[in-house]
Amino acid sequence: MLETVHVPLDSRAYNVEIGPGLLEQAGRRIAPFLARPKVSIVTDETVGALHLATLQDSLRRAGIESTALSLPAGEATKGWPEFSRTVDWLLEQKVERRDLVIAFGGGVIGDLVGFAAAVLRRGVGFIQIPTSLLAQVDSSVGGKTGINSVHGKNLIGAFHQPRLVLADTAILGTLTERDFLAGYGEVMKYGLLGDAAFFEWLETMGPKLAAGDMAARVSAVRRSVEMKAEIVVRDETEQGDRALLNLGHTFCHALETATGYSDRLLHGEGVAIGCALAFELSARLGLCAQEDPSRVRAHLAEMGTKRDLRDIPGDLPSADDLLTLMGQDKKVLDGQLRFILARGIGDAFVTSDVPRDTVRAVLQDALDQCGA
Ligand code: GLY
Repeated sequence: MLETVHVPLDSRAYNVEIGPGLLEQAGRRIAPFLARPKVSIVTDETVGALHLATLQDSLRRAGIESTALSLPAGEATKGWPEFSRTVDWLLEQKVERRDLVIAFGGGVIGDLVGFAAAVLRRGVGFIQIPTSLLAQVDSSVGGKTGINSVHGKNLIGAFHQPRLVLADTAILGTLTERDFLAGYGEVMKYGLLGDAAFFEWLETMGPKLAAGDMAARVSAVRRSVEMKAEIVVRDETEQGDRALLNLGHTFCHALETATGYSDRLLHGEGVAIGCALAFELSARLGLCAQEDPSRVRAHLAEMGTKRDLRDIPGDLPSADDLLTLMGQDKKVLDGQLRFILARGIGDAFVTSDVPRDTVRAVLQDALDQCGA
């Protein structure tokens, strides 16, 4: 059931290995990449407690010595204090230029450790072992690394591609249902942005893969990674097409800021709601069929995850305040909001040409339903 997706970035090309049981095989899969049999692992306390022993046993069986640092779990870790602690710890471990660092966790760990590897001794290699669905289908692939600033999310960072990604789909079985479904928002995003047949497949198979169908999980992660790899190879540093991967994210980032990056809304849930809103906006602008936004929401309902503003507990700011928050997004260029809109399911494009009043009306209608 193992699949490989190759990311052909010339001298920085790498493989993403996908399937159940890869953690137990990590040692022999990592060994060929090492100049000496020694690695440093950075994980978080939750993943560490569940899976670190399995990883270190596998490394030991392959004759690889390892040391590990466990950071607190959660988005708050992705800032300067834990970043500088990580860099200092890696230096204490005497990581050399030719050594590899292992990022073992979800998106927070992958982003922070990738950035630490990018700057340590002006750049050491790293391996991603993503443990959340979101990290397996999005953040571990493509080389975006970084941390948050008081000025916003992911504002400090570097492009630094991993040498190898090991996505063990059996690990997904240890996620809570909510975390798994939050990651699913990013899976659905790929179908919506560029592959209508994949979205159709998800409409049938989504509930099965959520219920634990391993073959369906492997197929969904593989197709997502394949699509991400194609886009990253076309536009590694996001000068154009890579922005398609941000479908739903302009709405999502405003909602995450409005809810204080709290448990009220997980990132992937915001992406799912944001995708539904992006399709609503596209339909209002006459770009896609009127039925498309309902089809997106119907699928999310079938999956049992958030799909509307009214699914977010607690009060939300006004439509105008949400618009202001959207204006603080990284994707603003020359003061113009950039949106990813769609001509239909599987056909997204990037545009700055969106009337603010239409965006405001879409938000207002969604907010009006909150009290309904
Ligand atoms: N997560 C969006 C990207 O990697 O470009």
